[in-house]
Amino acid sequence: MSDAPEITPEAVEAAVADALAAIAAAPDTAALKAARSAHQGEGSALATLNAQMRHVPNEKKAEFGKLVGSARGRVSQALAAREEELAQAELAAQLEAERIDITAVASRTRTGARHPMSLLQEQISDIFVGMGWEIAEGPELEHEWFNFDALNLDEDHPARQLQDTFFVDPIERHLVMRTQTSPVQMRSMLERELPIYVLSPGKVYRTDEFDATHLPVFTQAEGLVIDKGITMAHLKGTLDHLARELFGPEAKTRLRTNYFPFTEPSAEFDLWHPTFKGGARWIEWGGCGMVNPNVLRAAGIDPEVYSGFAFGIGIERALMFRSDVQDMRDMAEGDVRFSEQFGMVV
Ligand code: DAH
Repeated sequence: MSDAPEITPEAVEAAVADALAAIAAAPDTAALKAARSAHQGEGSALATLNAQMRHVPNEKKAEFGKLVGSARGRVSQALAAREEELAQAELAAQLEAERIDITAVASRTRTGARHPMSLLQEQISDIFVGMGWEIAEGPELEHEWFNFDALNLDEDHPARQLQDTFFVDPIERHLVMRTQTSPVQMRSMLERELPIYVLSPGKVYRTDEFDATHLPVFTQAEGLVIDKGITMAHLKGTLDHLARELFGPEAKTRLRTNYFPFTEPSAEFDLWHPTFKGGARWIEWGGCGMVNPNVLRAAGIDPEVYSGFAFGIGIERALMFRSDVQDMRDMAEGDVRFSEQFGMVV
């Protein structure tokens, strides 16, 4: 036993005082844990004094036992009390840090509205998909060959200058912003199996003014059918169906002869609009015709076996006379108040 500390009231009191000071000074539960092991754990002054009990003569055991026992009890109590205090303080700090102001006003997000052009384009597409047609797509940056040559407009064809085309640098690459959706006709004929029943809606570009009735970027939908035995009656029936679906059962179309190099015969067609704002009337809507045999041949299709019709319509125009829009620029400017009038708020 030699150099082990002797149990004396002073030694016990000193160990307790050290322990209480360390407990009181522990700033958080982690520090308290360290204090607990230093002052109560194995090797601590109190544990060592306690171990000395076995060397205490029997007649002193009760007295010293009480001394050490009450010392250990005081330390345990102080630990428990400080632990509780720190736990509460830490919980309070955490709650404060995670505080949420449930009375705060949420920031407002404005809802948008689907654009009427998208809605009309979808509605037109649905009418054709409902007849079993497919939707075809083509690039807006198009090769001159598809936009002009393949459609029977050769290099010095007057219509090639009449179409006010955006040519794209470098000019030797022969790329243009497509002036019509008609180039998708040739792409469809080259890419698809016969028979072909496709509608191709999309953007087209012309060097037009930006005014109430013109946009330099606008939307067309191109229809193309290639099958055996197709006649102009099929074309007329298809256009009448489209007219009735969009403008009611009394709507119809009429054809007026015209010239387009990729159709022969060609026609312009008018819509009989039964519910037009200023009274029922004929409105010019698009171009159409029977696919020119030269175009069929360029696509490797035998005009003796197959024939077809094609048409092109302007979708902004359709929105104007269907929904009484006075100024086409409203469709391009993206003000949500314009879109909201058409009802599809998202
Ligand atoms: N591509 C013509 C245009 O933009 C419209 C057109 C006319 C399309 C006759 C056709 C058609 O498919 O057969 O002016």
